[in-house]
Amino acid sequence: MARLALLSQLLLASLIAAQQVYVPAKGPAPRPQCKHPYNGKPEYSFTPFSFTLTETVRYATSVPAPTSTSTYAAPPEALITLVPSLSYTTWGKWNPNDTATATDTNDPYGQAAWTALWRHANPPNFTETAVYSTTVSPTPVPSSELVLPPADYFGPTDCYTFPKGFEFGVASSASQIEGATADQGKSPSLMDILVRDGRPKSYVTNEFYYYYKQDIERVAAMGVKYFSFSIAWTRILPFALPGTPVNKEGIDHYNDVINFILEKGMIPVVTLLHFDTPLQFYGSNLTTAADKTKLGYVNGGYQNETFQDAFVNYAKVVMTHYADRVPVWFTFNEPLLYSYDARSVDSVIRSHARTYRFYKEELGGQGKVALKFNNNFGVPRDPNSAADVEAANHFNSIQLGTFCDPIFLGKDYPDSFKKTFPDYVPLTKEDLEYIGGQVDFLGIDPYTATVITPPVPGEQGSILDCARNESSSLRPYCVNQTTVNVYGWDIGYRSQSYVYTTPTYLRSYLNYLYNTWRKPVSITEFGYPVYGERERALPDQLFDTPRSQYYLSFLSETLKAIREDGVEVAGAYLWSFADNWEFGDADSQFGVQTVNQTTQVRNYKKSFFDVVDFMRARMVD
Ligand SMILES: *[C@@H]1O[C@H](CO)[C@@H](O)[C@H](O)[C@H]1NC(C)=O
Ligand SMILES: *[C@@H]1O[C@H](CO)[C@@H](O)[C@H](O)[C@H]1NC(C)=O
Ligand SMILES: *[C@@H]1O[C@H](CO)[C@@H](O)[C@H](O)[C@H]1NC(C)=O
Ligand SMILES: *[C@@H]1O[C@H](CO)[C@@H](O)[C@H](O)[C@H]1NC(C)=O
Ligand SMILES: *[C@@H]1O[C@H](CO)[C@@H](O)[C@H](O)[C@H]1NC(C)=O
Ligand SMILES: *[C@@H]1O[C@H](CO)[C@@H](O)[C@H](O)[C@H]1NC(C)=O
Ligand SMILES: *[C@@H]1O[C@H](CO)[C@@H](O)[C@H](O)[C@H]1NC(C)=O
Repeated sequence: MARLALLSQLLLASLIAAQQVYVPAKGPAPRPQCKHPYNGKPEYSFTPFSFTLTETVRYATSVPAPTSTSTYAAPPEALITLVPSLSYTTWGKWNPNDTATATDTNDPYGQAAWTALWRHANPPNFTETAVYSTTVSPTPVPSSELVLPPADYFGPTDCYTFPKGFEFGVASSASQIEGATADQGKSPSLMDILVRDGRPKSYVTNEFYYYYKQDIERVAAMGVKYFSFSIAWTRILPFALPGTPVNKEGIDHYNDVINFILEKGMIPVVTLLHFDTPLQFYGSNLTTAADKTKLGYVNGGYQNETFQDAFVNYAKVVMTHYADRVPVWFTFNEPLLYSYDARSVDSVIRSHARTYRFYKEELGGQGKVALKFNNNFGVPRDPNSAADVEAANHFNSIQLGTFCDPIFLGKDYPDSFKKTFPDYVPLTKEDLEYIGGQVDFLGIDPYTATVITPPVPGEQGSILDCARNESSSLRPYCVNQTTVNVYGWDIGYRSQSYVYTTPTYLRSYLNYLYNTWRKPVSITEFGYPVYGERERALPDQLFDTPRSQYYLSFLSETLKAIREDGVEVAGAYLWSFADNWEFGDADSQFGVQTVNQTTQVRNYKKSFFDVVDFMRARMVD
């Protein structure tokens, strides 16, 4: 408790401190609000005692019903001609126990060919234990579920508001929530065979594919305006490549999702690729083991020679169908993490630029197109140490500059990347003109921060020695990443493998991003995992004060970046609107709602109420 109280005081103190300074170096935490301290002797007296109701009842309020419709492009009928020779078909549902073979074996895209995709993928121990197999009709959320929980005693006391048009939303991704993975024509993706660290793979997700209306209803009831989700490429184009048939059921499904979001008064935000690469790009070798010396940690297949054209074709199919109703698009989610090598990077930035240009120049879209970047901000352990600062710059420039220098600035790759990956694909002047500036804002998923020092001198050589040494264990970033600050304390609360609750660095980070790449920044995901939260009794899962503290401190620091530092922050999206599947298992929960994996029943956690209450008090629209 003492540390909690202290942290709140620090938060308060930082309100009046200069940028990035958290507390003065000397003395106890100041209390600038205490103009007239009561230092005298207290006066004690007896009074009659009686109980009073100290609770007040407040309710979350739904986003208002839409009064008008906005469009951001021509209707689909007018746009789909931009993609030549579109054909539509449907496939069924795959069941590994069903050994019957379809008879249309001469059709390269028939039922037999589709089933063969699943047999080739051979997802480990595939089972589907779903509660729902048809779309669930939504029911309104009863007001008894919308009562605010007891407020935390400590919390932000700022007087700032978010600027008009600030996008406050929730985020999610297809493979982490949909389920129905071999249903309604979807073909296998990397996510269906991904097995991390030898742990058994779970296929239980949130059944959003059939339950989406209720989920959207529940988020709207809390007053959240933006709903960010990803589309599964393998639901739209089961055969992945240009010229292959479009899955009618997939197109219809996402039309329904988008329309229901709009019907509930929210705004849809779409990511095209969130890690669920179609398996076609892996050829016959479906080994997906992580290799920590590669650039990203997972082979996302982006380096495949057919990937780029296929991605652009997929993007065109999706955008032509939905661009009239979707104002915000992301091409790639966290491209670094699934960029296996330097060719993957080349493929990502060219695919993005081609998609952006298609959207603006051919489709005539009036919305925004960007990418969502990962990166736990690398902060120098000691900002007064030139070596620590150089190491942090090296780390951040590989993680972000590799993509952002060409895309945002039309500048060549940073030296850090070129020296570590001498086999990178060079960018010509024409390439940089084509790629540069083709983005509307910078999406960032700034979960936490990483403390950076150089490699230990003598033992591991310099950063450059490591960059040149393909067998160095510090590759690819060639710096020492720790969680410990210069005085030996962890920079935040540890939840399993990560140290979280580090709002200290968020404000610096927003300053760094905005001033380096010179576009508005949007916090496209931020969230707080609790390891094993789902094992607790339901009331203990719901009363998630540390998560509230995380969210409110991040948002408070965001406001300071906007109001005190002049950093344009366009939005903030909670990860995630419900607990979900975390790439193989559900050991860590990030949600602002619980999901009972047996019944699929959802419950709002305290943090969800605390965040929407914080935002409502500070939103101008
Ligand atoms: C296939 O059969 C096994 C054994 O009867 C069963 O455990 C499994 O759930 C079935 N799989 C599917 C997808 O129905
Ligand atoms: C498949 O099931 C077996 C038996 O339950 C288990 O030992 C194995 O770990 C599972 N494999 C995966 C990848 O889930
Ligand atoms: C690249 O993708 C194509 C499918 O478009 C596939 O035929 C080929 O085998 C893949 N190449 C590699 C090296 O996996
Ligand atoms: C399959 O890919 C993995 C990871 O990229 C690699 O280690 C392995 O050698 C490949 N296997 C074959 C048969 O090419
Ligand atoms: C990384 O830095 C920390 C803090 O200075 C230090 O304790 C640790 O030994 C370093 N680790 C490596 C592998 O250099
Ligand atoms: C490269 O790194 C390996 C592993 O750390 C080390 O054993 C080797 O001495 C290094 N090579 C050079 C040339 O520094
Ligand atoms: C999930 O639902 C099942 C079935 O109603 C119940 O037994 C279980 O206790 C629930 N889990 C939690 C954490 O509430």
